[in-house]
Amino acid sequence: MSGCRVCGGEVREFVDLGRQPLANGFLTRDELDREFFYRLAVGICLSCTMVQLVEEVPRHLRYHDAYPYHTSGTAQMRSHFEEDAQLFLATELAGPDPFFVEIGCNDGALLSPIADAGVRHLGVEPSGTVADMARGKGIRVLGDFFEEGTAEAIRASDGPADVIFGANTICHLAAVESLFAGVDALLRPGGVFVFEEPYLGAILDHTSFDQIYDEHFYFFAVRSVQAMAERFGFELVNVEHLTVHGGEIRYTLARSGQRRPTPEVDEVLAAEKARGLADLETLDRFASAIQHIRYDLVELLTRLRAQGRRVVGYGAPGKSTTLINYCGIGPDLLPFICDSTPSKQGRLAPGSHIPVRPPAEFSARYPDYAVLFAWNYADEIIAKEDGFRAAGGQWILYVPEVHIV
Ligand code: TMP
Ligand code: ZN
Repeated sequence: MSGCRVCGGEVREFVDLGRQPLANGFLTRDELDREFFYRLAVGICLSCTMVQLVEEVPRHLRYHDAYPYHTSGTAQMRSHFEEDAQLFLATELAGPDPFFVEIGCNDGALLSPIADAGVRHLGVEPSGTVADMARGKGIRVLGDFFEEGTAEAIRASDGPADVIFGANTICHLAAVESLFAGVDALLRPGGVFVFEEPYLGAILDHTSFDQIYDEHFYFFAVRSVQAMAERFGFELVNVEHLTVHGGEIRYTLARSGQRRPTPEVDEVLAAEKARGLADLETLDRFASAIQHIRYDLVELLTRLRAQGRRVVGYGAPGKSTTLINYCGIGPDLLPFICDSTPSKQGRLAPGSHIPVRPPAEFSARYPDYAVLFAWNYADEIIAKEDGFRAAGGQWILYVPEVHIV
């Protein structure tokens, strides 16, 4: 394979999840014969420790006008981004006439409160449908990918940014050299580049290998982000643990020498070292834990089917695609998956072609079991669907191991 996308170093593969479709490639029936597949495997750079996919899916196949994910689709993410916005408004954006840029603003969950506060802002979003949803909320959106050229154009038209932000988007950008050149071109002196992304440590803790899919090109950790920042003239000056999406870290970068790093940076670095986060043995243990989950889940679903139990899926997040296809689960084991996202409903799940239906079909006739694919919203969903358990239904979870609640 080719070298590390950050530093060019040698990448050692440690997980192979096989042939996979696009995680958010929900299909109509007439698209079935054109489905795109690639090999989903993950490696670690032996030089800079960045964990990354070994194969990049072209970005126009991942982000386009039919991109179905809506950030504002869940109460948890809406309130998370509302809090994020208030935090920025009270700190980095408290000066005169600040300018805030978000990379991949989706439907504007974060930018909406920032726009409402009257702060100059711009979302950079290549996926047309979600960009239009943001525009409908009065948000300014540039329909494009964030890269060096885009950033220079924004700088020329709007001036320098106080904050450049990304949530669950920076790890999607394989071309980090262009990303950092863009940030450098657009960020004002003393400004910050902040991003929050799934944390490698949390993925290993929960064996949440379903976080591995085409859009998540990198799996960040404090050590690898620090090395990446330094390579491009930046410095990691703060890290904060977040609970969303199964465990993330919010990284704050400034240009080298401009801000004093907080003690949390060294604390989390030391914790990563102590647990051997970047050690090949740790990663190999993760790889074998994944195989156990597959075995246990397929065994459970096959047994339930043999017993004549009705089992359906609940939630069709992008990450369910990895799990479903790695386990070889099809409509024979799960006749449908319900999901609250209108643009997924009526379509077929990628690879498995399991139909996606509205949640009303779930409550109209409760199954005996439901596999909770949107496990990061377990509390919200289990509470909302309390009628299911009241009717004797049981939830199947597979993180950190297969269990029934
Ligand atoms: P996410 O983990 O990438 O945010 O995706 C969560 C998916 O789960 C998304 O497709 C919406 C779906 N979902 C439901 O169907 N019902 C719910 O109550 C919640 C919270 C999410
Ligand atoms: Zn590297």
